[in-house]
Amino acid sequence: SDEILTTDVLVIGSGPAGGSAALFLATYGVDHIVITKYRWTANTPRAHITNQRTVEIMRDMGIEDDIKAQGTPPDLMGDTVFCTSLTGDEIGRVRTWGTHPARKADYTLASPSENCDLPQTLFEPILVGRSAERGSRIRFDTEYLSLVQDDAGVTVTVRDRLSGHTYPIRAKYVIAADGGRSKVAEDVDLPFEGEMDLAGSMNIVFHADLARLVEHRPSVLYWVLQPGSEIGGIGMGLVRMVRPWDEWLVVWGYDINQPPPQVDDAMATRIVHDLIGDDTIPVTIRSTSLWGNNKRYATRYRAGRVFLAGDAVHRHPPSNGLGSNTSVQDSYNLAWKLAMVLKGQAGEGLLDSYDAERAPVGKQIVLRANKSIEEFGPIFDALGVSSTPDPEQQTANMRARAGNTPEAAAQRAALLDALELKNYEFNAHGVELGQRYRSGAVIGDGTPEPGYIRDSELYYHATTWPGARLPHCWLGTDGGHKVSTHDITGKGRFSLLTGISGEAWAEAAVGAARSLGIEIDAHVIGPGRTHTDLYGDWARLREVPESGCVLVRPDAHVGWRAHELTADPEKELTDVLARLLDRA
Ligand code: FDA
Repeated sequence: SDEILTTDVLVIGSGPAGGSAALFLATYGVDHIVITKYRWTANTPRAHITNQRTVEIMRDMGIEDDIKAQGTPPDLMGDTVFCTSLTGDEIGRVRTWGTHPARKADYTLASPSENCDLPQTLFEPILVGRSAERGSRIRFDTEYLSLVQDDAGVTVTVRDRLSGHTYPIRAKYVIAADGGRSKVAEDVDLPFEGEMDLAGSMNIVFHADLARLVEHRPSVLYWVLQPGSEIGGIGMGLVRMVRPWDEWLVVWGYDINQPPPQVDDAMATRIVHDLIGDDTIPVTIRSTSLWGNNKRYATRYRAGRVFLAGDAVHRHPPSNGLGSNTSVQDSYNLAWKLAMVLKGQAGEGLLDSYDAERAPVGKQIVLRANKSIEEFGPIFDALGVSSTPDPEQQTANMRARAGNTPEAAAQRAALLDALELKNYEFNAHGVELGQRYRSGAVIGDGTPEPGYIRDSELYYHATTWPGARLPHCWLGTDGGHKVSTHDITGKGRFSLLTGISGEAWAEAAVGAARSLGIEIDAHVIGPGRTHTDLYGDWARLREVPESGCVLVRPDAHVGWRAHELTADPEKELTDVLARLLDRA
């Protein structure tokens, strides 16, 4: 028939951004279709570090157990090694991903969820499987070709890659999550800053039993510095665990200004053996691929009814492990807003808050990841490999650090300082959890932004300042079981947290929800109420008196807070929500 396929939201792409957008929309009951170019999900492991914020979001979706079941847990992730090969000289170790005992406390206090290592090849099938189960209609082998928009919607032309048949899909909104080479971003002429393809990297996925070489220093990452072999790229080889300890991925640089290398099995095996430092270990090459290191971000994420998410709008190296995480978090920010607009619970102006909130995050992570690459420089300097191009001299300079001379002592001290800097790549908890949004979907309380007591990139600072992520702490149910503040919020709804002297806020929330036709979960925290403040942590974290309240958005960011009970709390709450939701 000539009837055109229609849907509320068309999602283009099924990577971390598109796959999670589908999961959120399906969970929120929004009608949508996903199209994705290939026959299945990512075919190589690619992104893997899955940070607490992402696991927390999956917890909100009710699938944290899927992530934990497939991910490698933190205790096998954190002894990041710098060496000349896996069998060679160990240059130093950095405890990473929050595994330093002192940092572990920061991570444990900040979230109900632990980070883990979950390769994209395992993550995407979880996202896609769970969304399909909840109602997503996912069309594989279906390629986006072009789009035209008008006041009421977007008409997207797609091609079925099996039959070659081209057909239109009509959607009210489009989420374009078509990755780092986004055709949609080009077609809607999104403004970008920065450059692409600054350096070339090659991924080699292989099987080899390396347990004997790594089990005593379990890590996701083994950085290998071999004078004479490094060209372009990140300047050193990386041996990355995919599955402990027999599936691996090597990242190796190549000169992007030369024609791309033809990587056959023999070449891949030689590179792998060099980095292991033992060519008697059996290695089976699974795949090789080339990719570029980018430093490019969009300054706008929206063109009319088309919203872009993920690598389509922020393109950067894997440093800090932020690629997939930020992509999921973009979609999480967008999905509840689209759901509320489509359900008639919010005005279209709410959608303006998407790029207001996420574009600064995209810029931040692109710059952070690139800076982390530059911050390998001091390690090279300390080892004496940047002062000469001669590999033999470089090797001699590296070895010189073992000498009993004042120069060698200075070299050792410089190396320690240089390794310390890597905390900004591997323990950047503030970058991972510390986003504070500013937009029309955040109503300020007139207080100035709280400052940072510790380094803002390394440390997460819990605050209920409007725009910040709701601080986590454990509360008690009436049976004394522990639930996180993040467990009683989210679920696609607004929530309100108050204390016994603020009980009237909870009643006000019922009235406001009724008059606005939205859902608000109100929780009174105190003895004999819905939840108890088990350890007194909420009282220490909430930053408002017991008679105040904290209004939490569906994405667990604070939308507004009150410092006291006002004369007409229902009117105040209704007004605030009306503004936030563009209903005023
Ligand atoms: P992503 O690229 O994952 O997904 C894009 C989706 O859009 C895919 O489903 C694709 O099929 C689909 N698509 C594209 N064009 C389409 C079209 N015209 N029509 C329909 N569908 C279309 N990060 C990291 O942290 N560590 C790492 O080691 C690596 N390594 C790495 C290697 C390689 C080879 C790549 C390409 C990328 C990485 N990354 C990485 C980056 C990381 O993979 C990236 O940040 C996330 O996958 C981004 O998720 P997105 O969903 O935005 O895009």
